[in-house]
Amino acid sequence: MPESGVTGAVAEPASGALLNWGLSEGSTLKIFLDTANLDELKKGASWGIVDGVTTNPTLIAKEGKPLAEQVRMICDIVDGDISAEVVSTEAPKMIKEGLELIKIHKNIVVKCPLTRDGIQATKALSGERIRVNVTLCFSPGQALLAAKAGAYIISPFVGRLDDIGWTGMDLVRQIITIYKNYGYQTQVLAASLRSPLHVVDAALAGSHIGTMPFKVLDMLFNHPLTDKGLDQFLKDYAKVFHETPVAG
Ligand code: G3P
Repeated sequence: MPESGVTGAVAEPASGALLNWGLSEGSTLKIFLDTANLDELKKGASWGIVDGVTTNPTLIAKEGKPLAEQVRMICDIVDGDISAEVVSTEAPKMIKEGLELIKIHKNIVVKCPLTRDGIQATKALSGERIRVNVTLCFSPGQALLAAKAGAYIISPFVGRLDDIGWTGMDLVRQIITIYKNYGYQTQVLAASLRSPLHVVDAALAGSHIGTMPFKVLDMLFNHPLTDKGLDQFLKDYAKVFHETPVAG
């Protein structure tokens, strides 16, 4: 096994392409919230449809509390994969940070940027069966490197590619094709989703996960015909029974 810089027993060597995260075939699209805000997470979790959370240094900084403290509180709210990003830029330090982050909670997924050091750290952490979300992915070639390093998740940033005039969702589709070609186990997490249409397109592309701001999740509920239809149902009911139905 190559020198990983990680201390501790190796449960199973990382084989990159063949690293098996125990994911079942035909799993559904998981919905993650891309926020570190506790109120948003509590509200989203109360709807029963949030499968996990992604954070990044910007989102953590917005909340004003140290990373470990904020992430611990997030783990108390959402029972699912919680991505927490390292802030070091050199592989040995990223690995050290990752090993600290996973002590916070069993659901922590270490997030590493798609740099040379980030991939090196991913390979080392994955070799220890530590789950890594490789972030800031903007090309299929980068995604290939992350899968080869044994990443648990790859995060292509759809909205930020759209921002520079590219079709961000094409990247998601290309990654899914490449991973399928070779049976990579790395999950594709469509990130930087900015609208309900992005979420639908990510699902149509076959993403394993879509992460979105609270505002976008909330918008997914909306349809004028739902509101109109419900209004009519309740009016019709009240006309006959002279009351608005109240539970209990
Ligand atoms: O957390 C990563 C990503 O989802 C950020 O999204 O909107 O800042 O590009 P955005």
